[in-house]
Amino acid sequence: MKNPTLSELLAQVEACRLCPLGETRTNAVFGGGNPDADLMFVGEAPGYHEDRQGEPFVGRAGRLLDELLERMGLRRNDVYIANVLKCRPPGNRDPQADEIERCRGYLEGQIAAIQPQFICTLGNFSTKLLSGKPDGISRVHGAAQPLPGSDNIHLYPVFHPAAALYTPANLAALKDDFDRLAQMLTGASAAPSADTPGVAPDTDPSEQLGLF
Ligand code: URA
Repeated sequence: MKNPTLSELLAQVEACRLCPLGETRTNAVFGGGNPDADLMFVGEAPGYHEDRQGEPFVGRAGRLLDELLERMGLRRNDVYIANVLKCRPPGNRDPQADEIERCRGYLEGQIAAIQPQFICTLGNFSTKLLSGKPDGISRVHGAAQPLPGSDNIHLYPVFHPAAALYTPANLAALKDDFDRLAQMLTGASAAPSADTPGVAPDTDPSEQLGLF
């Protein structure tokens, strides 16, 4: 079957009632940026400001993300930014497993439509969902790994910017990881190899989930 376009996915998300968050949101936050981007970011879920404005990463964590992008010589319109959940969990609580399961098709559709070279997963929720592995961000940040089921898309997990706002060690790690990401993007417009800095050796194909 043909993959849905981003506009079709947007219309589906705006009408979505697959979980109760559709009832409590002010706006769905579909995501946005350059639909032809080589680099896509996937965060966790909209917060207060994102829910009000309908745009991803417009609060404090978003300002830090903008600064990190600037460090790489990029702006928002050069990349695509999305989240695991498209609606704000009340009180900014963690996404629940059933919400993630019901929402994941939209993110998978966005990835299939954009076909970025790298997906920079911000924090634990997007990293675990897209890698299909339980390994936490402290263990896997800063090293690219293949996206299960894809030949040419790599995941690049980093700390969530919100986790770096008040924790200097996380901020230092995040800056280092963005510097490595910039090297990979400029150094290897071809697919990265295991020799490329920050690229982990391929995982066992039997661990791949065949999501895409
Ligand atoms: N945190 C996220 O994970 N996503 C947003 O859009 C904003 C804050």
